[in-house]
Amino acid sequence: MVEAGLADGVIGRAIEHGLLDVQVHDLRAYTTDRHRSVDDLPYGGGPGMVMKPEPLARAVEEIRTRRGIPDAIVLLSPQGRRFTQAEAVRMSVLRHVALLCGRYEGMDDRVRALVAAEELSIGDYVLSGGELAALVVVDAISRLVPGVVADSRSVEEDSFSRGLLDYPHYTRPSEFCGYAVPDVLLSGHHEEVRLWRKKTAIRRTLERRPELLDTAALDDEERAMLDEIRKEREREQ
Ligand code: ADE
Repeated sequence: MVEAGLADGVIGRAIEHGLLDVQVHDLRAYTTDRHRSVDDLPYGGGPGMVMKPEPLARAVEEIRTRRGIPDAIVLLSPQGRRFTQAEAVRMSVLRHVALLCGRYEGMDDRVRALVAAEELSIGDYVLSGGELAALVVVDAISRLVPGVVADSRSVEEDSFSRGLLDYPHYTRPSEFCGYAVPDVLLSGHHEEVRLWRKKTAIRRTLERRPELLDTAALDDEERAMLDEIRKEREREQ
């Protein structure tokens, strides 16, 4: 699953061009028993299985020996701190990150302490394993690595890069099924376009994710726009 997720698109190309190096480790290769078991019954009883600590510890040990000590070891789990764009930015400047994926009901909790892992969650829902979460983390980090996304402006202007939602985008035709592109975008007035985009991003954020505005890094212009939008909304009510 992980290899398929890394094979195509922006990430696949970045790996091909040597901008990223992603190694996938199969935990079964680090087992010693005949059945190559990576999980076992939970102490205390209850449903499901728990990932054994030994294969994970051995895998991390081998990574340390073969590829050097990682700058971060991250356990993917719903119990972790929330993975955000800010976390992606932090991790994008690290040289070497090890991502540990659990399956089944979870990992033996001693692994976290043993390998000094931080724990990250990609959202408040439960996936059947950490692999998809790891792919999400790899993708979000990788596009911040210089050269991975061809036009760096599109990364800088991304939604969340400044803590706001993105403004709406349009391409041709200028009218489609009765829906027209906002006039200002066809006007050729760069300054008006810039102001419209900024204001629309703030309005969307206020309407859809108001809590983001508590921590967004707004400049003076954006703060003024936010006040203006709030007043407009009060008038409409
Ligand atoms: N593994 C299972 N669910 C997860 C989640 N929401 N985030 C990270 N890893 C997970």
